[in-house]
Amino acid sequence: MFFVELTALAIVSLALLSIFWSTITLGISPMPTSRKVKQEVLTLIPGDLDGEVQELGAGWGTLAWAVASRFPRARVIGWERSPFPFLFCRLRLLIQPRENLTIRFGDFHRADLKHAHLVLTYLWTGAMLRLGPKFDAELPDGALVISHTFAWRGRDPELTHTTADLYRTPVYRYRITRP
Ligand SMILES: C[S@@+](CC[C@H](N)C(=O)[O-])C[C@H]1O[C@@H](n2cnc3c(N)ncnc32)[C@H](O)[C@@H]1O
Repeated sequence: MFFVELTALAIVSLALLSIFWSTITLGISPMPTSRKVKQEVLTLIPGDLDGEVQELGAGWGTLAWAVASRFPRARVIGWERSPFPFLFCRLRLLIQPRENLTIRFGDFHRADLKHAHLVLTYLWTGAMLRLGPKFDAELPDGALVISHTFAWRGRDPELTHTTADLYRTPVYRYRITRP
C-alpha cells in the first residue's frame, strides 16, 4: 500500500514540476478558457466552417474539443508544447475520441498555417506580437484569427465580442485580406 501511495505522490509531483517548468520556460500556464468565453468564441466561428483549424497552444483541449465537436467537417489541429497537458490531451482523445481532432506535441511556431481557415489563440501579448508576421506571411486570403483576451496589435478586428464575465473578456476576430 505504501508503495502505491509513494508512486501516486511521485506522479503528481512530476506532473506539477513539469507544469511549473513549462510555465516558466514558455511564459504562460496551461490556464483553460472559461465556459463563458468558450461560448463567445464559438459564436464567432462561421456555422459553415469546414476547413483546417489550427489551435496554437491547446492546453487541456478546452477549445479544441469544443470546436471539433461543434464543427464535425472541420479538421482541428491543436499544438501543445507542455508535456503534461499534451499527454492529458492524448489520453482524452482515447476517452473522448474525435475523428477530426489531432493533438501535436511541439512548438506552434513550426505549424504550417498555409491551409488554415481558422487560427485560435489564447496566449499573451508577446506571443501575439511574434505571431503577427507569421499570420501575415502564411495565412491564406479570407482566413480567420480568433483570439481572446489578447489582441493582435496593430490590426483592426472585424468583430469584437465582450464576454459577460467578471473580466469582460474581449474576444477578437480578424480576417486576412489580401489585395
Ligand atoms: C493559456 S493556455 C490556453 C489553452 C487553451 N488554448 C485554452 O484556451 O483552453 C496557453 C497554452 O499555450 C501553450 N504554449 C505556449 N507556448 C507554446 C508554444 N511555443 N508551442 C506550443 N504550445 C505553447 C502553453 O503550454 C499553454 O498550454
